[in-house]
Amino acid sequence: MESPDKRWARILAEYLGKFRIELPRFPLVLDVGCGNAAVWNYLGVAEYLKDKGLGMPHYIAVDKEEAAFQKAKSQLGELVTFLACDAQTLSDYVKGSFHLALCTHPDLTTSPQGPKMWQRVFTEVAGLLDPRGCLVVTSFWVQDHIPLQVAVDRAGLRILYSGTNIFPGRIFDRASDGEPLQYDKYILLARKLSGPEG
Ligand SMILES: C[S@@+](CC[C@H](N)C(=O)[O-])C[C@H]1O[C@@H](n2cnc3c(N)ncnc32)[C@H](O)[C@@H]1O
Repeated sequence: MESPDKRWARILAEYLGKFRIELPRFPLVLDVGCGNAAVWNYLGVAEYLKDKGLGMPHYIAVDKEEAAFQKAKSQLGELVTFLACDAQTLSDYVKGSFHLALCTHPDLTTSPQGPKMWQRVFTEVAGLLDPRGCLVVTSFWVQDHIPLQVAVDRAGLRILYSGTNIFPGRIFDRASDGEPLQYDKYILLARKLSGPEG
């Protein structure tokens, strides 16, 4: 099977291309609730940018638990700025106008604070997105994906696409109702309300 970074480069080429989202050279990229997946996400973004001749990203990866990204931080070193903070108040920690924000597998259903907490995170992300920027979120089961759609909408973003991802990863488990749990099975793209139509 294709490695997750190559798969992510393809996901970005497919979905950013489909919705005509163009990144500038050396874009500012945010990875929220990154965990150790920051490694694959970063490499996927870097590979996508290389294919487009857009240089290296300025990549900021955030997770509320330092331990969640420890391995990724040791692997990526200086390439990525890692930040341990609660993304519900992200604008207290990072400034800027992000061209791309990624959030892979936010735990809307299983997290103790649930969808309301993630809604606050997406509201912060919305405030930090460039007007031409894009948020890309993936989930591994429908139980997260449906509340995710609601949370992103309530955060004041405009959903461009929400549905199955044509480049999912491997199935790693099965839910109690039989649904196969698969990395990046569903994908959602959203923009600021003030951004260009698309
Ligand atoms: C299911 S894990 C997904 C990790 C990674 N993105 C992936 O795809 O494997 C959800 C991550 O979100 C982080 N998280 C949860 N709430 C957060 C918050 N309020 N601020 C920042 N990170 C948060 C958790 O610590 C955890 O690492």
